[in-house]
Amino acid sequence: MFSKIAAALVLILPTIARAQYSLVKEYAGTTFFDDWTFYGNFDNLTNGDAIFVTASQAASEKLAFVNSAGNAIIKVDNTTQVPFNDKRNTVRIASTDRFAVGSLWIADMLHLPFGCSVWPAFWSQAPDWPTGGEIDTFEGVNMVQNSQFALHTEPGCTVTNAVQTSTLVNSTDCSFQSNNNEGCQVTNPDPSSYGANFAAAGGGVFVTEFAEKGISIWFFSRKNIPSSIQGNGSTVDTTTLGTPVVNYPSTSCSIDKFFEPQNLIFDITLCGVSAAAGNPTTFAQTCSGICYNDYVIGPPSNYDNAYFEVQSVRVFGTSSAVDIKPTNGASTWAASLRHVIAGSVMAAVAYMLPAIL
Ligand SMILES: *[C@@H]1O[C@H](CO)[C@@H](O)[C@H](O)[C@H]1NC(C)=O
Ligand SMILES: *[C@@H]1O[C@H](CO)[C@@H](O)[C@H](O)[C@H]1NC(C)=O
Ligand SMILES: *[C@@H]1O[C@H](CO)[C@@H](O)[C@H](O)[C@H]1NC(C)=O
Ligand SMILES: *[C@@H]1O[C@H](CO)[C@@H](O)[C@H](O)[C@H]1NC(C)=O
Repeated sequence: MFSKIAAALVLILPTIARAQYSLVKEYAGTTFFDDWTFYGNFDNLTNGDAIFVTASQAASEKLAFVNSAGNAIIKVDNTTQVPFNDKRNTVRIASTDRFAVGSLWIADMLHLPFGCSVWPAFWSQAPDWPTGGEIDTFEGVNMVQNSQFALHTEPGCTVTNAVQTSTLVNSTDCSFQSNNNEGCQVTNPDPSSYGANFAAAGGGVFVTEFAEKGISIWFFSRKNIPSSIQGNGSTVDTTTLGTPVVNYPSTSCSIDKFFEPQNLIFDITLCGVSAAAGNPTTFAQTCSGICYNDYVIGPPSNYDNAYFEVQSVRVFGTSSAVDIKPTNGASTWAASLRHVIAGSVMAAVAYMLPAIL
């Protein structure tokens, strides 16, 4: 009897070992913006020259809306001539749901924000940062060609035994206290992972797996999207995706210990003394002039490319990781201490640049 059960278990084990995820939440179409919190304050997180508008401002100024193609636009104001000493309107939204270890999210995008003075990201964090960690799926700055990935955690999380396609590793210590909070940063090697090239290639998808065995991110330019995740399937099997571009295995970073349920975030900020885009060294690597004077208060058309166009964000979970509603709504945006640490991501982005210049 026992051996029969054992034999049966052996037969089903390979199936169990596969990472299968089922759809738990979809942000798409006319309801895309339903379950996000708009920050509604100037950028007091990274001191960017940006005002993150409220939901009603975003709607009336058309900074966050669903376009005629049914895609979500999240953008910087490109119609207002901003007076000297003022900041420019833009958007930061955080999902009201949080997603736990055992979840996976796919962001399908047609356009990413770019241009001098622009610093966009699609990322996630737990409300008590650095407790609970941060996962940066996409980050770019100014006119760089490649986007980048990172984790930011409490001290003690490092990267060893990564199985990934990117060799562009800039740091393996994820602690917010190391390397000016650069995080364990990896450059996306795909030349179509950001900027005009991303858009020209028809965009692409970022797949972020938040699993107990590790955090992995895949990037597929449009023409390379595996058939298993094309269309609107209700499940994802990560064994069909190939090797991730970046992998943070639990080997020397217990995911259960360093990570808590994450709020997904889209934001675009601008310049700032301590923010990534405005750091003079970083700025001069891909742009000329003065970040604030020539861009933020310059011609509004500087921001014609400073928008996300998102077809969908779809979140999948294993049975134990369903979406979690926060008990305290304010906490979804109160915590972005990563961004409070002056110079942190600025340094990270500056480190990335030599690789591509
Ligand atoms: C940013 O502003 C909001 C709204 O005024 C406030 O609740 C929050 O504490 C501020 N955060 C920081 C880091 O100053
Ligand atoms: C980042 O990584 C790439 C690839 O390993 C390397 O060429 C570049 O010099 C690195 N930059 C820094 C600042 O370490
Ligand atoms: C995708 O499929 C889900 C059910 O699996 C459905 O609720 C959703 O409306 C579909 N979305 C689109 C954009 O077709
Ligand atoms: C602003 O940017 C959008 C793209 O987001 C573009 O369609 C539009 O022509 C730009 N200029 C103005 C004045 O709206």
